Amino acid sequence: MPLVPLKQVLDEANKGSYGVGAYNVNNMEQIQALMQGAAETRTPLILQASRGALEYTKMVYLKHLILAAVEDNPDLPVVCHLDHGPNLEVVKQAIALGFTSVMIDGSIDYAQEDEKGAHPPRSFKENIRVTKEACDYAHPLGVSVEGELGTLGGIEDETQAASTQLTNPDQVEQFVSETGVDALAVAIGTSHGAHKFKEAPKLALDLIPKIQERAPETTLVMHGSSSVPQELVKQINAYGGTLEKAMGVPMDQIQAAIKLGIRKINVDTDGRLAFTGGIRQYLVQNPKVFDQRKYLGQGRDAIYQVMKQKMIDFGSAGHAGDYEPKTLEDAKAWYK
Ligand code: G3H
Ligand code: 13P
Ligand code: ZN
Repeated sequence: MPLVPLKQVLDEANKGSYGVGAYNVNNMEQIQALMQGAAETRTPLILQASRGALEYTKMVYLKHLILAAVEDNPDLPVVCHLDHGPNLEVVKQAIALGFTSVMIDGSIDYAQEDEKGAHPPRSFKENIRVTKEACDYAHPLGVSVEGELGTLGGIEDETQAASTQLTNPDQVEQFVSETGVDALAVAIGTSHGAHKFKEAPKLALDLIPKIQERAPETTLVMHGSSSVPQELVKQINAYGGTLEKAMGVPMDQIQAAIKLGIRKINVDTDGRLAFTGGIRQYLVQNPKVFDQRKYLGQGRDAIYQVMKQKMIDFGSAGHAGDYEPKTLEDAKAWYK
């Protein structure tokens, strides 16, 4: 099965009212863990790469790892998606590599940085301009596009916004009609990283139906959706880590968001935590071992356990065989 466009996977998720995880990947072990979870649960899957992941893997390695995943699992629909594309140039690079979907993050200006390395928000008008530019480039090639309206706070290195702005539903209709995005990332109180909340997590879930009402054809995306399981934090700290006051989005709030219409759920941090916890524990418990397959294998297994459960909890399990997958060639017709 070739890689499928994001739009098809999300349209199908809309029909079935379930969420599909979009999991950040940087190396073979993460990809293998996700593929194992998806194969066992019969889940459509979105593998996504940030600009940092593309740099880390010199692009070509990641491309071939994802192609290997598809070759190894020919009966699973898999999307290869660019996460937080900062500009048209990176969008073009991802498409040239064979990505079937791209995010253009026009919500913040990646070319500017404050003293903490955070990026200022772009104006609404500028966001529309860069997002439309990406759609105009990607759609004739059949590639799906995700845009973002509002900004997430957070502490992830590459994607840090200088301030948080929840999505304003009054801007949604104009944004979607002028850009033509297939998917819209909304800011409803989540943030990137392992420190999302200082006290009991509470999302602005009431925004979801207000946004969806103004863009009924566009599929909604939630970034910053890691749950930061406390057992992983404890495991990391028990084996030498120093993660303090880490807190994520509880699964019941994610499931409530899915009920209200969120379909793509971005998860990066939980994979990092699982991998780190598994590796730390293995190395501390096996100080004599220096075979990297042993400890990376332990990290891979930890990711598999955590992500397989998410596939079940998001509701995507069991849906891999629901539809005949489309190619980018098929998708070109959607945008004519
Ligand atoms: O949303 C951002 C992701 O967590 C990517 O992080 O740029 O460090 O790969 P990264
Ligand atoms: P987390 O940091 O919550 O995993 O969010 C990841 C994300 O939104 C990637 O785009
Ligand atoms: Zn994100």
